[in-house]
Amino acid sequence: MPGHRAPWLPPWIEYADTNEGKALSTLARSLDARLAGALRERGFVADDARRRPHVLLVDGATACVGTADPDIGSPWPLGIPRLRMPREAPSRSTQKLAEAIAVFLGGREQSLMHEGQAAVDLGAAPGGWTWQLASRGLQVAAVDNGALAPSIARDPNVEHVRADGLNWRPKRAVEWLVCDILEKPTRIAALVADWLASGTARNAIFNLKLPMKKRRDEVLRCGEQIRDRLDAARIDATLAFRQLYHDREEVTGCVLRKR
Ligand SMILES: C[S@@+](CC[C@H](N)C(=O)[O-])C[C@H]1O[C@@H](n2cnc3c(N)ncnc32)[C@H](O)[C@@H]1O
Repeated sequence: MPGHRAPWLPPWIEYADTNEGKALSTLARSLDARLAGALRERGFVADDARRRPHVLLVDGATACVGTADPDIGSPWPLGIPRLRMPREAPSRSTQKLAEAIAVFLGGREQSLMHEGQAAVDLGAAPGGWTWQLASRGLQVAAVDNGALAPSIARDPNVEHVRADGLNWRPKRAVEWLVCDILEKPTRIAALVADWLASGTARNAIFNLKLPMKKRRDEVLRCGEQIRDRLDAARIDATLAFRQLYHDREEVTGCVLRKR
């Protein structure tokens, strides 16, 4: 393995999530067992190590090898989340927020997002994201002029607010803002920045639906926009973007207050 001191976490043998890639799954499984065994035998593997070797099979004869910090890389082999689709959740997009929570909060989920906190879900209908929050015991204002699924609308942790999410604000500050409104990315970035800079929300997870062209530039512009507002308000926070497995022509952003 290039240039890193052992020990490592057990290695992952990966391949592209395409038809060609999937044809390599049998090879990956057999290499997986052999490589992990060989590294363990030589004392290279420790379950509390801070780097993980990744072997990406390009084809049956070529592989790219590297190591990554497990806190920065995907928490799942191949970047494919192992999340169950909850039967009670009203839309498949529930998995997008579930993945975002797992990726951005990781091991800190219990301390950062928990029962008793207040949250706002902008563009909430039919309620997949609201379900993720309410099922963790958060009190959720679900803002959408559209209808929520009856099971979510009845949830005692959920209040359905029929309003324009681009203008509505809660009476009291909330710990969490989530936003899945289909709008221009810079409009959503300005909205999220405003909630955070004004102290209306402490943390945020939001989706940016990207334009057809210059997508990277758009993400950078939105990031800068949010960062400038936070800096001007002297708010110490981390800002991260990821194109998640469940994202299509989108990226998901997350802002977490440090103090
Ligand atoms: C992609 S869907 C949200 C799906 C939702 N996150 C879920 O998991 O079920 C986008 C929603 O945003 C709502 N929406 C669009 N513009 C809005 C606005 N200005 N204010 C509030 N909701 C809006 C739409 O009515 C739609 O229900």
